[in-house]
Amino acid sequence: MVETISIFEVGPRDGLQNIKNEIPINKKIELINILSTTGIGKIECGSFVSAKWVPQMRGTDQIFQEIVRRNGVKYTALTPNLKGFENALHAKVDEVAVFAAASETFSQKNVNCSIDESLARFRDIFEKARQKKIPVRGYVSCVVECPYEGYVAPKRVLEVTSKLLDMGCYEVSLGDTIGKGTPKKIDELLNVICESLNPEQLAGHFHDTSDYAIKNVEVGLKYGIRTFDTAIGGLGGCPYAPGAKGNLSTVQLINAIGIENFLGIPDLEMLLCAEKYLFNLLKN
Ligand code: HMG
Ligand code: MG
Repeated sequence: MVETISIFEVGPRDGLQNIKNEIPINKKIELINILSTTGIGKIECGSFVSAKWVPQMRGTDQIFQEIVRRNGVKYTALTPNLKGFENALHAKVDEVAVFAAASETFSQKNVNCSIDESLARFRDIFEKARQKKIPVRGYVSCVVECPYEGYVAPKRVLEVTSKLLDMGCYEVSLGDTIGKGTPKKIDELLNVICESLNPEQLAGHFHDTSDYAIKNVEVGLKYGIRTFDTAIGGLGGCPYAPGAKGNLSTVQLINAIGIENFLGIPDLEMLLCAEKYLFNLLKN
């Protein structure tokens, strides 16, 4: 397994989107600049969503203008619709992510439309992304449980994930949005999903509400998944998913699985620096 696991750092987006106090843009930029020196290949820097819906993501365009871009690092952002994608293009993002859900109620609460309508909105994004050669990642939320509907059947997750891959996502990240996944539930889910989908096109996005995220990564590894989303400092949550706690912490994952197993061997000292910077930022 040595040097095969990739980290997708979502801290500046998922980690910060749910923080109540406004965080100055220059501090977010500094955090991303520090993260850029850690050897992690992909950093989700923000979202081109409506600021009325997620105020903390206001200024994502400025972040992209002012970060110091390092060779070898891809700077990514969420885009819910064509307007967001066009703003992302203007800001010169390297890669975008579209996000859908396996639960109808969550879809309505998060993006104000049904699952099918959200997928229909993505068609324009895929078309333009193909023209501009921008890779598109996908997220499926509520892969285990929905904060409004409860249990979500694996076959519903499979349906949405397959559609996103068919539409053109190079990878789909499976979001345990409220962190209700136990190793048993993730095993049941992946047993269904990996029967028809290639695990190399999947990623794990395990919120760590119940302290099972690392165990869930281990289950993902068993199924051949090699990309996992983490957030610096273990921050995170979705404003439209009550009960969503932090993401799996980047440093915690590396320590648990062993640094030698991660692509590019991340710089743990710099990651601890980023963590310290973030915690100081949140104190002030
Ligand atoms: P809507 O209100 O239905 O949109 O929101 P609309 O098309 O009717 O437009 C309403 C207003 O928003 C208009 O402005 C539009 O111009 C504007 P007004 O005329 O009122 O001034 N607007 C936009 N502004 C900026 N950027 C845009 C954009 N689109 C429209 N892209 C919308 C629909 C999707 C925009 C809204 O629901 C939204 O922004 N939702 C975002 C929700 C979100 O970001 N959630 C968190 C991320 S998902 C997550 O955390 C889960 C994940 O981590 C995985 C997991 O853990 O499961 C990924
Ligand atoms: Mg999330």
